Amino acid sequence: MAVSKAVMLMPRGIQVCVVALALFTATPSYAADTSAVGVHGMVVSESEDAARAGVEILKQGGNAVDAAVATALAVGVTNPAACGIGGGGFMLIYIAKAHAFYALDYRETAPLQARPDMYMRNGKPDEDLARDGILGVAVPGEIAGIDAALRRFGTMKFQQIAAPAEKLAGDGYAASPHLAGEIAQLASKLKNDPGLSQVFLKPDGSAPKAGDMIVEKNLAATLKSLCDDPVRNFYHGQVASALVAFMKARGGLLSAADLTNYRPDWRDPIRRRYEGHEVYAMPPPSSGGVVLEMLGALDSGHLAGLGVNSPPYLARLIEVMRQGFIDRERYADPDFIGVDVQKLLSDTNIQQLRERALHPKEMRPPPAAHDHGTSNLLVVDKDGNVVALTTTINTVFGAKMSVPALGLILNDEMDDFAVAPGVPNAYHLEGERANEVRPGKRPLSSMTPIIVTKSGVPVMTTGGSGGPTIVSGVLQVALNILAFHLDAASAVAEPRIHEQAAPDIVIVEQAMPPATRSALEQMGYKLKVVPNLGAVGAITMAPANLRGAFDPRKGGGAIGY
Ligand code: DON
Repeated sequence: MAVSKAVMLMPRGIQVCVVALALFTATPSYAADTSAVGVHGMVVSESEDAARAGVEILKQGGNAVDAAVATALAVGVTNPAACGIGGGGFMLIYIAKAHAFYALDYRETAPLQARPDMYMRNGKPDEDLARDGILGVAVPGEIAGIDAALRRFGTMKFQQIAAPAEKLAGDGYAASPHLAGEIAQLASKLKNDPGLSQVFLKPDGSAPKAGDMIVEKNLAATLKSLCDDPVRNFYHGQVASALVAFMKARGGLLSAADLTNYRPDWRDPIRRRYEGHEVYAMPPPSSGGVVLEMLGALDSGHLAGLGVNSPPYLARLIEVMRQGFIDRERYADPDFIGVDVQKLLSDTNIQQLRERALHPKEMRPPPAAHDHGTSNLLVVDKDGNVVALTTTINTVFGAKMSVPALGLILNDEMDDFAVAPGVPNAYHLEGERANEVRPGKRPLSSMTPIIVTKSGVPVMTTGGSGGPTIVSGVLQVALNILAFHLDAASAVAEPRIHEQAAPDIVIVEQAMPPATRSALEQMGYKLKVVPNLGAVGAITMAPANLRGAFDPRKGGGAIGY
């Protein structure tokens, strides 16, 4: 490694430190710049077209909630492998005028006919039934959530907000490199579904290339048909009839009663302090509490002195992540299982977590790293309102099934339940009874958008996609900003690690410098090196100085104005 002239001129002791730092740190360079600065507002999304849709709404006078909803509908068109009107999500909202936070849970819900043993065959759990197929489908919450947010805080009607998404779907959009890659990887499965193959594959069955146009005419028509009363038209009207008829024909469980009964839930946001900040997160069934527990365990930890991504810092992260993921098994749908969040976030529990992290006992046997379903987006408007939203159809292209006439891709969110205690799901997360299937219940989620305040004012927001790596990714990006004072672009670009207790192996991005990796191995950690871990976006807010970045691992962008 070349040591610069400036370093050669430094005193010997400082030279050693600078060279050591250079060995252990390296910010990877990515092809596209996915960051931006803004004065009045900012939208960050994994799809630049979708971020543009949000900014268009802000410029028309819409607020952060209007813009977030427009972005969510648009990204449902431009990254249909990740999210859409067949899915559901979480919205964490800060309304500046009220100095108040709101948490909207519009997650998919198990159908009324669902049963705890519905994935058992011949006495054995068959995990595949919860994915890739009709039995994986849970009741979609996306449109109900969007409607609830708009009715409570929006300033515009559904059709005005949906217009950019309808245009993208009807006129077509250029496939992003990410989407083209996902389609190519899943082409053999997409071929089996008439709706998906017609829209996403070429007539000869091959996958489109990045930049090729994709048109979703039927989805455009469905969005238009929702008019300005999307809940009535989606859950009670023609969309419901078409969806239920499709389910009946294919042996699915979702019924008309499931759709008419679906309600989004306004829940109380949860919060905990970290180094003079208040961190607000989604309550269960989100894993927001797990991120707060981990941050709590690292509070007053003098991390800055250790150095970003230094081996001693990463060792502390690994231990805290492991214990946090062990605690994750205590989270579930609070409408079915008592989840004592106050206790989990108490100083006592966090002190115990910290002590367990110092004396690790559990060593269990590595998860699949690739998976970029799910979409996170972040919006700040000129009045200081903030929305952090994560939405999903679960795995890439959800159940790999669509209702062709509606252009609607079905989720496979049932896989987020524990199909049986100890049986790992698509993300190698093992579940317990608390997260077993029950009719009307919502599965535990790793999605965890957060907003952080200092002296009562939001200073940053982040959220991500990537199954359980959302939890570790949000944690690391938040720490990169709060503890190491990196800007948004560097905070999301820094290499990341992931440890989820079971399997007990540390997953490390290949961009992590080799010297750091061997230092961790010398400490006794078993590592698995992967190209990328999830995708995380961030915005930092200072007066008239907004800095946003989406994760260059997935593409997309930030647009400020
Ligand atoms: O809610 C959850 O935890 C999952 N359905 C999220 C799935 C996800 O992030 C997919 N991929 N990267």
